[in-house]
Amino acid sequence: MLARVPRVVNENVLVGFDTADDAGVYKLTPDCALVQTVDFFTPIVDDSYTYGAIAAANSLSDVYAMGGRPISALSIVAYPAKGDLEILEGILKGGSEKMREADCVVIGGHSIGDEEIKFGYAVTGTIHPEKVKTNSGARPGDVLMFTKKIGTGVIATALKRGIAAEDHVQAAVDSMLELNRRACEAMLQFDVHGCTDVTGFGLVGHALEMARGSGVTLEIEAAGVRFLPGAIDYARAGAIPGGLKNNRSYAECAIELPGGLPEEIVNLLHDPQTSGGLLIALPEEDAARLEQTFPSACRIGHVTGRQEKPIRIR
Ligand code: CO
Ligand code: CO
Ligand code: CO
Repeated sequence: MLARVPRVVNENVLVGFDTADDAGVYKLTPDCALVQTVDFFTPIVDDSYTYGAIAAANSLSDVYAMGGRPISALSIVAYPAKGDLEILEGILKGGSEKMREADCVVIGGHSIGDEEIKFGYAVTGTIHPEKVKTNSGARPGDVLMFTKKIGTGVIATALKRGIAAEDHVQAAVDSMLELNRRACEAMLQFDVHGCTDVTGFGLVGHALEMARGSGVTLEIEAAGVRFLPGAIDYARAGAIPGGLKNNRSYAECAIELPGGLPEEIVNLLHDPQTSGGLLIALPEEDAARLEQTFPSACRIGHVTGRQEKPIRIR
């Protein structure tokens, strides 16, 4: 849709919306640029504090995905005019404490009356203009690493249907609450060629943006991808979020699937993630060192020259 909006040409825009990247980057001086992003969504869990904290972690993620350091944020609140104010307080508290954990200050915000609750933040970060990690730098020979487990969309759907076990929900919540800060700090020690966070379009959708942006094919080893506990069972039981189906049909013509890959695994590779991990492309020797520095980073495949399809699952 954004392709239909006239492009703004400005020499200080280092990353704009034409590259489907995580955040916009605007150069202020030769050694300082702003990283800007905004994200908000409807409640994903019942507890208001947890929802607010997850929304904050999710909003910050795009800054980390670019290799930036978040500095300030503005909250975005849509809340029923006659809604319970204690719930709203919980959402705001959860959000602001997560922001504090990230050393990012909330300096304002905007709220409107709306029957459907929505919450999130516009986040501003800083970055050196020459150190921006985009999704368009992956090179043939790079190793692909991913820093979290997949399955938050399927588990949230199972929760709504009342079939999710408590410990499975807790594991998904813990994963969504985890900032991508440490993953970002760890990757910045190495020669990272490309990075993006995995959110609403799922692992395949965000990998596809990286593959197209970089003019390469990403080969993903399904056996290397880690899933949240319970996710495979719920996917098999049909707890499939609407967004997952859209993701699958969007990517269909761009993906080569091996015969015999179980349907639930194919579905999970397209599962929309909230506050998902970082997908990182970097040379082999750096991958080996990143694995040691940040053990949550797991190898899930590698980058090749452009093949017939930009995404190949093995
Ligand atoms: Co993103
Ligand atoms: Co975003
Ligand atoms: Co990026």
